[in-house]
Amino acid sequence: MTTAAVTRQPPGPRGHLLMGILPDVRRDILGCLGSLHRQYGDVVRYRLGPLRSHLVAHPDAVKHVLQDHVKNYTKDHLSYRMGRWITGDGLLTSTGDFWLRQRRLAQPAFHRQRIAGMAAGMVGQAEAMLRRWDTAAASGTPVGINEEMMRLTLAIVGEALFGASVEGQAREVGAAFTVISQQIAERFRTFRMLPPILPTRYDRAFRDARATLLGTVQGIIATRRQHGDDTGDLLSMLMLARDEDTGEGMTDEQLGSEVMTMLLAGHETTATSLSWVWGLLSKHPEVEARLHAELDAVLGGRTPTAEDVPRLVYTKQVVEETMRLYPAAVIFSRTVKEDDVIGGFHIPKGSAVDVSPYVTQRHPDFWEEPEAFRPERFAPEAAAKRHRFAYFPFSGGPRQCIGNSFAMMETQLVLATVAQRYRLREAPGFTLEPDSHLTLRPKGALPMSLERRA
Ligand code: HEM
Repeated sequence: MTTAAVTRQPPGPRGHLLMGILPDVRRDILGCLGSLHRQYGDVVRYRLGPLRSHLVAHPDAVKHVLQDHVKNYTKDHLSYRMGRWITGDGLLTSTGDFWLRQRRLAQPAFHRQRIAGMAAGMVGQAEAMLRRWDTAAASGTPVGINEEMMRLTLAIVGEALFGASVEGQAREVGAAFTVISQQIAERFRTFRMLPPILPTRYDRAFRDARATLLGTVQGIIATRRQHGDDTGDLLSMLMLARDEDTGEGMTDEQLGSEVMTMLLAGHETTATSLSWVWGLLSKHPEVEARLHAELDAVLGGRTPTAEDVPRLVYTKQVVEETMRLYPAAVIFSRTVKEDDVIGGFHIPKGSAVDVSPYVTQRHPDFWEEPEAFRPERFAPEAAAKRHRFAYFPFSGGPRQCIGNSFAMMETQLVLATVAQRYRLREAPGFTLEPDSHLTLRPKGALPMSLERRA
């Protein structure tokens, strides 16, 4: 049957006359996504304010959108237009030939070998954090895990990709990013589509936060320009890149967009994943015990290196299972360029399609007891039998996360370094509940006390 012959519309809720399902999304996005899937199945039609959208949950459909028919599903979507208010036209938000050129320029900085060369720096940063923690542990003071993980991952990405020490600005950057991510989520849910240019307190807070981030980014670029060395890192590659036709390099604005993109995309995602790991381990002592056994057997108290990473098999499974239950990117969207058919349903040109790692990674046809935390699901034999797109915390296809291997190595190494020294236990005020900003963080500060391992 041709695309034109399929006119069957997917099922879905009626929703509010003007707002569609926005009130439900605002109240509880995760609950709302779960119940849409349970009630209506693998292709659901709904409205988000004026936006006609579809949630596609079956891995075949996710593959269709992200990989097989990627040209028909573009990032020309409100969420990325809003993203451009923060980063400008960076790798995450740009499209077409421009995106492809930038991706090719950045890709070599993420080759496996190069990433392996960043391992020592990652572990070094984790050890610096542990020195701070030793003081807290000695006085029995709990640490706020969410903030600690943000500070750590920002320091790691700054050093690894830009040779810059940004840890001193971690608090400022973290606060600015929180303002921006809260506002973007709020603006999306309330359909405030105007850029933040008004002289209101709300818009000014956004602009101030962006100026703080931009200040950090410009500082990184200015420092590198001063000494001008080619250190072979991502920043050098971007600065030295020349257009094949014109011989021109990137403008300062373009460079700023890419640095800002990497700094933001590369730290909060990894930080939230690590925070979830610590929270889940404290709730699952049997998993923690197995993790400790592996660390003791493979490392025996030694500092982990890049060569250890392939041998930290269960450590990796713990990270993967955490990202299955709590993927940093809950949902992302594409705009449909031409009419299409997904799962036997008509998907009209101009509407949107949403894919959600959160929903698909809990799909009961692909995951037994999907709510249970079971790292063994990622044992190589089990993982090999699974549909590639039943699990996609880093997306898939040509627009998949460029930092995938970087993030996996980082989380494994940080987990191994910290878990060798400390058990993290729930402290007063600890709750393990999701709080969806731009990414899916655990709510509150996540206070945990540090128990030194023998
Ligand atoms: C646990 C950690 C991470 C997760 C879960 C994650 C997830 C994702 C996802 C789902 C996308 C696709 C988004 C979309 O299509 O809208 C993406 C893209 C991207 N990520 Fe990550 N990411 C992580 C870590 C990182 C790191 C460490 C970096 C950089 C150092 C990074 C840089 C990027 C960039 C630049 C893109 C855009 C790629 C493109 O479109 O060409 N991410 N990430």
